[in-house]
Amino acid sequence: MEWKNYVFWSAVISLISLVWHLRRKSSYRRSKLPPGPKGWPVFGNLFDLGSLPHRSLEALRQQYGPVVWLKLGFVNTLVLLSAGEAEEFFKNHDLSFLDRFTNDSMRSHDYDKISIAFGPCSTYWRTLRRVCTSELFANKRINDTMLIRQKSVDELLSWIDNELEKGASSGVVLRQFVFPALFNMIGNLTLSRDLVDPQSKISSEFCTAMDSVHECVGRPNISDLLPWLRKLDLQGIRRKMDRSLGKAIEIILKFVEERVEQRKQNPNLSSEQKMDFLDVLLNYRGTGKDEPVTLSEYQVTVFLMEMFFAGTDSTSGTTEWAMCELLLNPEKMKEVNAELARVVGAKKKLQESDIDNLPYLQAIVNETLRLHPPGPLLIPRKAVKDTNFMGYSIPKDTQVMVNCWAIGRDEDSWDDASSFKPERFLDSYINYKGQNYEFLPFGSGRRMCPGLPLAHRIVPLVLGSLLHHFDWELCDGAKSIDMRETMGAGVKLLDPLQAIPKRKTM
Ligand code: HEM
Repeated sequence: MEWKNYVFWSAVISLISLVWHLRRKSSYRRSKLPPGPKGWPVFGNLFDLGSLPHRSLEALRQQYGPVVWLKLGFVNTLVLLSAGEAEEFFKNHDLSFLDRFTNDSMRSHDYDKISIAFGPCSTYWRTLRRVCTSELFANKRINDTMLIRQKSVDELLSWIDNELEKGASSGVVLRQFVFPALFNMIGNLTLSRDLVDPQSKISSEFCTAMDSVHECVGRPNISDLLPWLRKLDLQGIRRKMDRSLGKAIEIILKFVEERVEQRKQNPNLSSEQKMDFLDVLLNYRGTGKDEPVTLSEYQVTVFLMEMFFAGTDSTSGTTEWAMCELLLNPEKMKEVNAELARVVGAKKKLQESDIDNLPYLQAIVNETLRLHPPGPLLIPRKAVKDTNFMGYSIPKDTQVMVNCWAIGRDEDSWDDASSFKPERFLDSYINYKGQNYEFLPFGSGRRMCPGLPLAHRIVPLVLGSLLHHFDWELCDGAKSIDMRETMGAGVKLLDPLQAIPKRKTM
């Protein structure tokens, strides 16, 4: 009997000490969390986010400082709002926060498992990153594909020319031309084919499906904040994502299968010089040790789809914002036009090789990305383990948002921060390569945008060509532009810019 008593009392004492330990640990954690607004029961700080979270979160800096703690439903969230804290995060804690915070829509079709942008930091993710840096976005391949980009830009200019010939005197909606041109540019780099035709009223099925994927990924979803409601899919976002992502995958998978078949018929095809991304991925061979031996057709498909996802809205949105800022600042427009005329010459078209000699055009792109980064909160990270960050105890699985929009507009880092002043980047050491923490439109650290070298060529080429080929004016002598934003997977202009192009006399 005595031993039974002994076991009983040991169990009780162990249980009490466990509860005491857990309570102590959680109150320790609570006391060591960063400051933040008090939340509502169940919903936490959900209502503090608003429809433009980067703006609402910036407003918290004044009261709580640059490191803010929120509870979004049941999701612990750390928000960083200044360059110093971002530097500490990326320099000293990158590895502890290397995973992505995924939402319910991303679980559709196992997307969250094999996505390069949203997937966890796995051997597979490392392999894709390696392929990106050593193959797809390496300088040599980018140089080799210059003509593809030039062709897409020529098409863009001729589409607008055609519109003018049809008598579009009331102006053009810039996005309707720039977006498909960039979509086709990515289509040709990845699959050697155009996927949209702006002349046809019905945009391609793929473009429509991708649009819907963007919307699903960016829409706030109750299933993410109150996970026990996930199965109900109250807003129908998961069902919509299943359909749209399924459609996008089906379309790209068909192209992949076609190419695999062609390569079987003609084995020399894979060794011919001009390889697109699809060929590179099909040629991939790993050791099988710390990397896969080959990539499956499904993995290749999802990767290619993500190139459209990551590469089109970001570049076309940046071009649109830059054009807005220039139309609002005619003296800057004059200056960049003068630079283009001087360097490129009135009779020649802009080429990628000219860009290095166009510092003011590059400064305009920088200044646009400072004020209007397409991903204002980057892509949220997730803590892979309990971590001590700047004296705070951040629990595993915490979502981390680095508000690069707020950092880019921080008066402590930038003079006259909310004004569009490209000159600030002339003769400045600051660039967007991830080492200057006051300017992080492409992020930083190991999950930084791998497409930066491509975007670095695309945006000045497209913007510079539009400026060099046409003179631009606001419609109906307007003096202002509605600069309101809307949030999807990224931020873009709510009302697409409409402006009047006039063919320059060459
Ligand atoms: C103006 C153009 C672009 C901007 C501003 C931009 C910005 C970003 C940002 C902020 C991130 C997240 C970085 C982080 O979390 O630290 C990102 C990730 C990514 N971007 Fe871009 N991007 C652009 C263009 C492109 C292009 C052209 C491609 C490829 C065609 C691309 C492919 C990717 C991919 C695959 C990721 C995910 C990387 C990962 O999670 O490991 N991006 N981008």
